[in-house]
Amino acid sequence: MTDHSLPQGMIRAGHTTGTHEGYMPGFGNDFETEALPGALPQGQNSPQKCEYGLYAEQLSGTAFTAPRGQNERTWCYRIRPSVKHTGRFTKIDVPYWKSAPNIDPDVISLGQYRWDPVPHTEAAQTWITGMRTITTAGDVNTQIGMASHIYLVTQSMQDEYFYSADSELLVVPQEGRLRFCTELGVIDLEPKEIAILPRGLVYRVEVLEGPARGFVCENYGQKFDLPGRGPIGANCLANPRDFKCPVAAFEDRDAKSRVVIKWCGQFHETFIDHSPLDVVAWHGNYCAYKYDLRTYSPVGAILFDHPDPSIFTVLTAPSGQEGTANIDFVLFRERWMVAEHTFRPPWYHKNIMSEMMGNIYGIYDAKPKGFVPGGMSLHNMMLPHGPDRAAFEKASNEPMVPVLQDNTMQFMFETRFPQHLTAFAANEAPLQDDYIDCWDSIEKKFDGKPGVK
Ligand SMILES: [Fe+2]
Repeated sequence: MTDHSLPQGMIRAGHTTGTHEGYMPGFGNDFETEALPGALPQGQNSPQKCEYGLYAEQLSGTAFTAPRGQNERTWCYRIRPSVKHTGRFTKIDVPYWKSAPNIDPDVISLGQYRWDPVPHTEAAQTWITGMRTITTAGDVNTQIGMASHIYLVTQSMQDEYFYSADSELLVVPQEGRLRFCTELGVIDLEPKEIAILPRGLVYRVEVLEGPARGFVCENYGQKFDLPGRGPIGANCLANPRDFKCPVAAFEDRDAKSRVVIKWCGQFHETFIDHSPLDVVAWHGNYCAYKYDLRTYSPVGAILFDHPDPSIFTVLTAPSGQEGTANIDFVLFRERWMVAEHTFRPPWYHKNIMSEMMGNIYGIYDAKPKGFVPGGMSLHNMMLPHGPDRAAFEKASNEPMVPVLQDNTMQFMFETRFPQHLTAFAANEAPLQDDYIDCWDSIEKKFDGKPGVK
């Protein structure tokens, strides 16, 4: 007879780890979790009959034959199979959520652009109706490129669910708190955290504290991954253990419900008579997760000069070309500036990649004014940009002592594809007409005579 008790004095870990109740740590792990004891089959995926009368179903996030290191799938044990969570589809209009290609002949995307925070609307908005696309890039039908959005959410989805077949969503809150009740568990999200919602995962978004505003990067392409660290080694930047995946949670609720699906850039609705969030247990590596940006350990120059901003990459979504990302998610957060005899802010440059930035809080060192929390800026493909005059003069004359850049957090969605402004971004959003003027007062210092000026 087997003795299942532990040796005296030995204590076994609980179901979840200490301060992160409800989440499991690790990036890309193969997780297993069950909300009811014994619901998860052991030793096989597809038993002839599942415990509790559950249905086994696989959710494939990559092609069956993707290389092992990229292959992602999750086995779900659910009250009803997903075929019961959709019916006939009707197309619906979600006018402010655009997909690439979305090139408006009346909009000029060539330019350096900056926006003040997009204000909330008088009408209540949900996760679906409150999405405002700012730019699109690539092509959703060929699964390359991305879109950047602002979300303005004041109302919880009630008996309403959503999934995007087009994309995974990277969510960057700036104000308010949201709850994502997903098929695989519950993620609560607040500013200074991000969440990844994988392609095809069904969820409902509730407002825990409103109004809620934030940024979304919609990734049409290959999934976000951690960047290679190269000579940096095995630690720093974003560490895998700081990514948190929710434990299984389900609801067995009968209510007329609407499921909205984004598919090839178009929106569809279908009606069912129960909640689709009915996964009692699951195991696999295709899952939603969140990450606390305060755990990001920045690495930079500790003697002189300024590395490329790629040193601050949190997540990267590869394209077909090695080292050239479909999207890099880059974080500019609190850090010490210590470089000697160095112009410390980001230098002037022109980039084949296109850069959409957002401000979560604080002051950005290259633009002390005008780029405010909740605001965005776009420096499109091969368009020059860099510090304004005030930032240049300050950085050129400041004493070379260590400086703590405190209370600051901005990010960048950087893509290899040019970003096209939507009509909303060009005409309705609070675009700063005078942004281009921020470089006007930069003076010519050259007078033909040697010596620093
Ligand atoms: Fe740049």
